[in-house]
Amino acid sequence: MIPSLAQLAYVVASALFIFSLYWMNNPQTARKSVRAGVIAMILAMAATWIQPGIVHHLWIILAILAGFAVGIPLSRVALTAVPQRTALSHAFGGLAAGLVGTAKFYLWMSEGGAMLTPFRTSALILEVLLGFLTFTGSLMAAGKLQEVKWIPQRPVTYPLQNLTNIGLLLFAAALGVMIVLNPAGPWTAIAFPIIIALSLAFGILLIIPIGGADMPTVISILNAYAGLSAVAMGFMLDNKLLIVAGALDGSSGLILSIIMCKAMNRSFANVLFGAFGQVQATKGAADGRSYKQETIEGAAQIMEQASLVVIIPGYGMAVAQAQHRVRELYDQLTKRGITVKFAIHPVAGRMPGHMNVLLAEADIPYSDQIAMDDINPEMPQCDVALVIGANDVVNPAARTDKSTPIYGMPIIDADKARTVFAIKRSKNPGFAGIDNDLYFADRSFMLFGDAKAVIGDLVKQFSGGSGMH
Ligand code: TAP
Repeated sequence: MIPSLAQLAYVVASALFIFSLYWMNNPQTARKSVRAGVIAMILAMAATWIQPGIVHHLWIILAILAGFAVGIPLSRVALTAVPQRTALSHAFGGLAAGLVGTAKFYLWMSEGGAMLTPFRTSALILEVLLGFLTFTGSLMAAGKLQEVKWIPQRPVTYPLQNLTNIGLLLFAAALGVMIVLNPAGPWTAIAFPIIIALSLAFGILLIIPIGGADMPTVISILNAYAGLSAVAMGFMLDNKLLIVAGALDGSSGLILSIIMCKAMNRSFANVLFGAFGQVQATKGAADGRSYKQETIEGAAQIMEQASLVVIIPGYGMAVAQAQHRVRELYDQLTKRGITVKFAIHPVAGRMPGHMNVLLAEADIPYSDQIAMDDINPEMPQCDVALVIGANDVVNPAARTDKSTPIYGMPIIDADKARTVFAIKRSKNPGFAGIDNDLYFADRSFMLFGDAKAVIGDLVKQFSGGSGMH
């Protein structure tokens, strides 16, 4: 009775996981998606817990309490820190998979090794390899994103690096094959811990040549590894839910990294081995071009005359937490009959959907949040493009300058608008470390300052307050 109930619960949980991912496709159904995911996870855990084979209830309760102790503070991090928070989750997932594999290996060895069939042992070795490399790799990625002092942000490269890394991985795989062929062999006791040590080391070595700039994409790739290690664990334990959930996790991580690579016009190989961000151009400051500035009053007057204003948010809006002020500006403009649209670049900010989440928090209607490909044809008719803390995603050099690291990346065509106002705090470059030709264009004007303060001043202009900047 209990096993069939558990199997039924697993089927329902699998379906809910699939729906959860499907609903995540659209900001309007994202909340429903999270709820479905939570219910699926609770069902899966309950169905596992009621199995007759479970003997250590106290350990399960302790593990759940430990999960809460870590999970609750993790859920409270700022939105800008979500990429590193996600990396930490993958680290825990990888560690759990690695530890379960290790525990099972030693348990089955102590029982004489009959359970270590070639298929099960292969799955176990794969799980341990992927699990432990995901653990250290994700910790490194989180550290780079958090700008931990002792972890260098820049790519650290040395001669024959890729060869060394691949050599280490192949060596670990060869040891794994040896164990699969003869689990009872005398070398197994030494080979298994060496595999663990090599995969822990490989996780670190994999990440150090990758710059902080590429960490969000790498995290998504690590997500895929964590998923694959869960699939291997599912095969090892003969647990279908783990196989399904791991496959969903693995494939969604892979798809997400492909989307991010495409949006940056980079290849996987370039992200993993390209040492992006190592050489940074500093041309703008040196070549003597200067910015034109506009006053808040001037900008407000021009905006008031516009019929279409396109707001292009970027990472700076997230840093400044300016979304609620942006909402007030949106209200002021739409009240005057001006059409306001938000142009959303797929990699604006630091994680997929970053801008949508912020704008949704400020109740900006989803229908006014327009994806890059749909807004670009409208840009020539746009009277004012208001760039709020976005930089790389509006840099026209991506179209023309083959020497820049963002060459080929699709951008939002802010430069085609009749007038561009750009809000940022300084002349510093954006994420890719290059100057932005858009800011030097004839029709572009800078509104220097923190995004929240500048938008607040603009709102005051419209609502009749003084608000001089
Ligand atoms: P960035 O190119 O990083 O530019 C953000 C700009 O915001 C900076 O130039 C900064 O200039 C400004 N800023 C920072 N804090 C501000 C504040 N408080 N008020 C006003 N402005 C502020 O951002 P983007 O245009 O959104 O581009 C995203 C970049 O991240 C791309 O290069 C993309 O490839 C990369 N990336 C994104 C993702 C995902 S999934 N989103 C993943 C991997 C990589 P100041 O310092 O002068 O203020």
